[in-house]
Amino acid sequence: MEVPFSRPYLVGTEQAAVAEVITSGWVSQGPRVRDFEQAFAARVGAADAVATTNCTTALQLALYVSGVGPGDEVIVPSMSFIATANSVWQCGATPVFADIDPLTYNLDPAAAERAITPRTKAIMPVHQLGLPADMDPFLALAEAHGLEIVEDAACAIGASYRGRSIGSLGPLACFSLHPRKVITTGEGGMIAVQDPEVAARLRRLRQHAMDVSDLARHGARDVIIETYPERGWNARMTDMQAALGLCQLEVLDDILAWRRRVAGRYTAALESIPFLEAPHEPDYADRTWQSYAVRLTEDAPVTRNELMRLLLLDGVPTRRGVMASHEEPAYAGTVADLPHTEAASRGSMMLPMFAGLSDEHQDHVLERLAAHVSAVAA
Ligand SMILES: Cc1ncc(COP(=O)(O)O)c(C=O)c1O
Repeated sequence: MEVPFSRPYLVGTEQAAVAEVITSGWVSQGPRVRDFEQAFAARVGAADAVATTNCTTALQLALYVSGVGPGDEVIVPSMSFIATANSVWQCGATPVFADIDPLTYNLDPAAAERAITPRTKAIMPVHQLGLPADMDPFLALAEAHGLEIVEDAACAIGASYRGRSIGSLGPLACFSLHPRKVITTGEGGMIAVQDPEVAARLRRLRQHAMDVSDLARHGARDVIIETYPERGWNARMTDMQAALGLCQLEVLDDILAWRRRVAGRYTAALESIPFLEAPHEPDYADRTWQSYAVRLTEDAPVTRNELMRLLLLDGVPTRRGVMASHEEPAYAGTVADLPHTEAASRGSMMLPMFAGLSDEHQDHVLERLAAHVSAVAA
């Protein structure tokens, strides 16, 4: 049996929606992009949303409009996909790594506070694997120290924190629409924005900072000579992607329910498998289960990598746990004291998780996991 690790949830309505865009002839930055932004904003409870090419460009733009630039520091968790830290570097600023909460694997507000210096401009909480970070302390910290907050919500569409939707809490939250995420547009990103003026500026910046949108030009009855009041990016989403995204929003609740069920089955079964710990579930969060990360206890008789190898031979693909960015060669030389990050990253691995995963496949994953752990323990 070969178990897939991850698959997008596509239900068959997408082909016609994308074909309709192609037939219309308006294939980039047109009406579907605007429709998708509005539907996305409504879903996450934001005043507006701005579509981009991916979450990394969304983060760059969000940091830029937050005033982050050369000479600034931005506090980030090292335990995140490397794009989190890279987006800070792409703005000419320095990512400063702070440790995680050892239970949730999310940036620890107390560790973030200790990392504040006179150069700190912003804090970037990451809702890791779709589990909301403890946002109230971060928002209070930002208020107290005059800092900006940019949320890396790459995995968190549909998640909520104390009953409030991720995307409605802070000024700027950036989502990913990559196929490994909860919903996908192939590639894509979205910035949930609360301030309409910031949304308007982001919309210009993603289009070379041109002061006239394609939509406005299309509807104009006079010649328009555009200007470029500042320097910008190209982070435009296509209308084919947006049409796909609209279809994905329609099935988001089904996707979340399926992932929740898979996670529940994993967690229940892990209770009877020694040396493995299920993810911690804080009572303040409703998560998306973008990934399911299981952790080997320190006394496990097998290494994480060896267990991953054994499972792969049985048709069960896994992935290492969330990386510790400061341990990658790209961040060599970083001085950081991050014991919780290093232990959690080293000891955890992701099990197959996606909407559409069958009980039969999941049972195979669990049966092989239990068999290998008990074989090495014997
Ligand atoms: C936490 C986090 N931030 C940022 C990104 C980057 O997203 P994208 O690939 O859409 O640029 C990812 C994607 O893997 C992620 O997991």
